[in-house]
Amino acid sequence: MELKGLKPLFSQKAIQEITKRLAEELIREYRDKNPVFVGVLKGSFIFFADLIRELKLPLEIDFIRVASYGRDTVSSGKVSILKDVELPIKGRHVLIVEDIVDTGITLKVIYNHLKEKKPASIKICALIDKRERKKIEIDLDFVGFVVEKGFIVGYGLDYDERYRYLPEIYTLEEAP
Ligand code: PRP
Repeated sequence: MELKGLKPLFSQKAIQEITKRLAEELIREYRDKNPVFVGVLKGSFIFFADLIRELKLPLEIDFIRVASYGRDTVSSGKVSILKDVELPIKGRHVLIVEDIVDTGITLKVIYNHLKEKKPASIKICALIDKRERKKIEIDLDFVGFVVEKGFIVGYGLDYDERYRYLPEIYTLEEAP
């Protein structure tokens, strides 16, 4: 799709291929574990839905949402959980599903929060690992694309709530 101000980054085909590859890795990991997959709202909702449909294995799903007060405030540690998981995850195998890891701050907060609930294991799957602004290095167990920089939108990712609906992934030509 041609869109003013947006530069194509990953096509639908590329996203599908990466999602299939991730699903194969996840099937190997979770085949007999009846895991709980936790999607991070809102950005991951499309990736999450496509990913679980590739898996074809028993699992349960839940969602979590973190309040974001702007990156500077977030990095000072003022992050709160806006919506917690609803399933009891104690003793369960948990996978956090993120669309993009940028500074790493959101993920770290979510990881620590869920870990306190004493799951049997906790791993992370991210569609995109963006390197440029990383502040906290956190091991990503399953990674789709690695991107150096750029403001990324589409396929669930927004800029000021726009572009989430696009089926492909783009970079903004003029980064905000
Ligand atoms: C995005 C994205 C991640 C987070 C990553 O969410 O979905 O959750 O930012 O950024 P970080 O690594 O720098 O913490 P956002 O806060 O934009 O909310 P959204 O998912 O509702 O779009």
